[in-house]
Amino acid sequence: MNKEDLKNKDIPSHVAIIMDGNGRWAKQKGEDRVFGHMNGVNAIRNVLEAAIDLGVEYLTLYAFSTENWDRPKEEVDALMNLLVKTLLEEIEELKSNGVRLNVIGNLDLLPLKAQDLLKKSLSITEKNTKINLTLALSYSARWEIANAAKKIAQKVVQGTIDVEDIDETLFSNELTTKGMPDPQLLIRTSGELRISNFLVWQLAYAEFYFTDELWPDFNQNSFFKAIANYQCRERRFGKISEQI
Ligand code: FPP
Repeated sequence: MNKEDLKNKDIPSHVAIIMDGNGRWAKQKGEDRVFGHMNGVNAIRNVLEAAIDLGVEYLTLYAFSTENWDRPKEEVDALMNLLVKTLLEEIEELKSNGVRLNVIGNLDLLPLKAQDLLKKSLSITEKNTKINLTLALSYSARWEIANAAKKIAQKVVQGTIDVEDIDETLFSNELTTKGMPDPQLLIRTSGELRISNFLVWQLAYAEFYFTDELWPDFNQNSFFKAIANYQCRERRFGKISEQI
């Protein structure tokens, strides 16, 4: 597969990824699960570079789900420390490569140090336009959808909007992904065939790509393969082939 051929076809503007399999990757090597997460960060770096190379405008990564808080405390602490360490190490590189960092999720639950650093990182990269890198942290789609419903209900009660005004666009504008196009492609690694509470509303019409590769093994070539596979799909949006 030739990268230049990919570039000349339909590149999805938004790719979302469920980065799964760090723990199993580490176990296979007789290492601690955290070793898998550390190597997962390298995979993020590679995939981000590949996404920039192809001209993907939005890359959204499921880095930590609401449900992940229930993991053993040592692993949760290690992941939070890894988040802080990675931000400190990478922020200048992100800035100089045109990456605009964004975060979605219930950030109030993160350690204060991580919250502060995320705020700073967002402001350092806010003028960048090459790619929007969104980290879903302490994120769950049901939390997001329930939150949106709550905000809309408040607006109705306050009289800012009428019940009749509620439609898909208005609802989308109360989600954490406001202003972003819906992902055209969802990638999940490690062979699991589910979406695990990730972007449930936004993935309504996405193409799904599943691979058995474990996240730390997922490299630029794996990403290009996923895009090539996407480019072979016929996206009908409920219509028939002849109408496309
Ligand atoms: C899934 O693998 C991965 C995660 C829960 C975390 C992903 C995190 C990174 C790639 C590192 C960067 C992010 C942060 C927050 C520092 P798993 O642990 O579920 O693997 P398993 O299914 O094999 O156990």
